[in-house]
Amino acid sequence: MADRLHFGGVSGRTVVGAASRFGTPLYLYDEAFIREKCREISGMPNAFGLEPRYAMKANSGRAVLQLIHSEGLGIDASSLNEARRAHAAGIPLGSIMLTTQEVPRGADRADLERMMAAGMRYNVCSLLQLELVADFAARKKLPLSIRIHPGQGAGESATRNTGDKYSCFGVHLADLPGALSMAGDRGIVFDAVHVHIGSGGDPEKWRENVDREIAFLEEHLPQAERINFGGGLRTARMPDETSADVGALGAYAKRRLEELHTRTGRKIVMEVEPGTYVMANAGYLVTTVIDVKATGPDGFQFLVCDGGMEVNARPLLYGSRHPFYVVRKDGTVASSEFDSGGLDRARDLRVVVGRCCESGDSQSLDEEGHIVPRLIAEASAGDFLVVGGCGAYCSSMTPFAYNSHTQAPELLLRLDGRLDAIRRPQTLRQMTANEEGLRN
Ligand code: LLP
Repeated sequence: MADRLHFGGVSGRTVVGAASRFGTPLYLYDEAFIREKCREISGMPNAFGLEPRYAMKANSGRAVLQLIHSEGLGIDASSLNEARRAHAAGIPLGSIMLTTQEVPRGADRADLERMMAAGMRYNVCSLLQLELVADFAARKKLPLSIRIHPGQGAGESATRNTGDKYSCFGVHLADLPGALSMAGDRGIVFDAVHVHIGSGGDPEKWRENVDREIAFLEEHLPQAERINFGGGLRTARMPDETSADVGALGAYAKRRLEELHTRTGRKIVMEVEPGTYVMANAGYLVTTVIDVKATGPDGFQFLVCDGGMEVNARPLLYGSRHPFYVVRKDGTVASSEFDSGGLDRARDLRVVVGRCCESGDSQSLDEEGHIVPRLIAEASAGDFLVVGGCGAYCSSMTPFAYNSHTQAPELLLRLDGRLDAIRRPQTLRQMTANEEGLRN
């Protein structure tokens, strides 16, 4: 068995070193791997320039944003608060685009306008958003981007399809003429068009969207200079999954944009905004096995860990699979789903659960929430159970206060092998700081 976990440079010894700093559960990220993924994205073939933005909802910690920005990626923010966080992390407003369901009013609207005046791009996602920003954008001569709802999408699950009629992201094609005439009347320029069809869907659907979106741009948006194909690049976390070929997708978009240029003379800059692809496999969730139980001869063997749904909600939310590793106290990697040699299906099928009091608190669930045992080495209390693929939508998307567990710390494995704490563990006092007792 290799000493390293499958993705990046994290070894069993790194896991033990990280756990000895703060205890578990903790998130552990690999700087070299994040940089490598950023470079893959920045290296996507393109016709007339590429502007990649990192979808910070995937993992919004300050150090992560700074690291990704240092690789030349801008930021896709999905709320004003995300934009504020990115800016507070030192990212210039000119490198941020806001694509949100929010409709800022009052002080938030004033803030939005201040940020736009300072260079933040605004991707209009509804007719009301357009109406509310129209006078300001016209007065300041600020071009806008428009997110189009294409009526078709693709996601790894129905809940992650953002393009079909069951979701409402963007201005639907049927409303586009209204939006364009309102913008035209006020002298507003849409210099960019945006579509995000969903997360983790079939890459073929991503490619189809390239064609569809170029057709919208050609037909409806004569002033657009940029086309944003969204994020959603499929990313394999498990050995039997396959990632999107970002080089091939880029090459396809390049060819289509060159053809558009030949037809119309327009040179369109391409934009992409991946979250999962950059971060998913750069992160590990390190937990400790705290108990081992079984549910009788017809039942299962359970590894009870000190982190579950409250630190990685993806299995419960989507039935997502994440690879498991067992790391012994001395740093030996005893089990990996990328190397199941020596494991025996008759003996080594196990279920990984957390410590919250509900049966959905398991990391081995299918889409309907049923337990699915997995091939894992025998482990005992004190061993580490490490969950891979936890760099995206784990720390940023966790119901961590459930069962009054505190927010887990985050560590970053630096290029020189150092382990930096990038978020300290939350204390119980911090968790309850804003509560008021019952008054008489
Ligand atoms: N752009 C927009 C406008 C988005 O809404 C999203 C994700 C992205 C980019 C980045 O998509 P990605 O490259 O990460 O697929 N929580 C789910 C994913 C839902 C993401 C929602 N929007 C998960 O854990 O799989």
